[in-house]
Amino acid sequence: MEKVVSGIRPTGNLHLGNYFGAVKSFVKMQDEYDCLFFIADWHSLTTHPKPENIRESAKTILAEYLACGIDPEKAGIYIQSDVKEVLELYLYFNMNAYLGELERVTSFKEKVRKQPDNVNAGLLTYPTLMAADILMHKADKVPVGKDQEQNMEMARLFARRFNRIYGVEYFKEPESFHFSDKAVKIPGLDGSGKMGKSEGNAIYLIDDEATIRKKVMRAVTDSGPAEPNQQKPEPIQNLFTLMEVVSDKSTYDYFNDKYNTCAIRYGDMKKQLAEDINAFCAPIRNRITDIQSNEEYMRKVAATGAEKARESARKTLCEVREIIGFRTTAL
Ligand code: TYM
Repeated sequence: MEKVVSGIRPTGNLHLGNYFGAVKSFVKMQDEYDCLFFIADWHSLTTHPKPENIRESAKTILAEYLACGIDPEKAGIYIQSDVKEVLELYLYFNMNAYLGELERVTSFKEKVRKQPDNVNAGLLTYPTLMAADILMHKADKVPVGKDQEQNMEMARLFARRFNRIYGVEYFKEPESFHFSDKAVKIPGLDGSGKMGKSEGNAIYLIDDEATIRKKVMRAVTDSGPAEPNQQKPEPIQNLFTLMEVVSDKSTYDYFNDKYNTCAIRYGDMKKQLAEDINAFCAPIRNRITDIQSNEEYMRKVAATGAEKARESARKTLCEVREIIGFRTTAL
């Protein structure tokens, strides 16, 4: 059976971008693939979170994974820092990763701009840790949003390079997976760019109805189309993109038609969009609260997932040590 691995950084609650970029695929893939879904708590250290936030955020994402429908009977769910084997592979990949190529990664350059006082080595080697997460389990497919494309290319590069350096055909190149036929980028409602926690424009799965309505009604729009079938400017396209993922096709078509005939009323469209987002989030929101109250269950899920992940990781690591030339001591 083909293998699937993916993770999310625990930097707060899951938002619609995380859901439609990644988690929706997780839920779909668990029926057809051998899946491991993790919480990337090591990756979150690049911004030096407080210890209590790390613990709490990991628990939050775990509850949200479950509330979204990831079934621990079908997929392994684990916390990255419970699988220490990954760190050894991270070290090996770092030895084959070059400063120039790591510095050229767009998300690294962005972070250098955004947090110039904290350009740490973990930030620089973020893609090698991500490659270790994926290649550790020899994943065939990795469900991720569009913003992870470059990191995926790096993972493929490190796989190829390892094979070349050691003259083996060991790691295969993992593919990105998207639930539709193209990479997903969920926009924010502030006019431009993607939805993200650090962008401050996210709608969270736990947001209540009033919060969702407030966020959607505030979305940037314009004075409306001046001629029929006009191309939509970015803020308007963004509203339609969100509607495309949360609403029925008939609802989308109705407002699209209104736009194309210059009869659109953005207020009506936003009201409908807020309603549909709420209809989508409400059942998940209710399940999150239920699951969070069952700490014992969550602990069990994470322990079982970690054991599954460690078993797969130990096997890879033994083989990698052998290839590199180390003794293959029992791990
Ligand atoms: P992270 O935590 O930033 O985001 C988690 C997942 O959500 C997707 N995503 C989006 N997709 C579409 N539109 C958006 N606006 C949007 N915002 C977030 C991301 O593409 C991602 O799939 N580096 C990863 C975590 C990671 C990982 C891995 C992923 C660490 N190791 C191994 C896969 C495999 C990250 O920071 O994602």
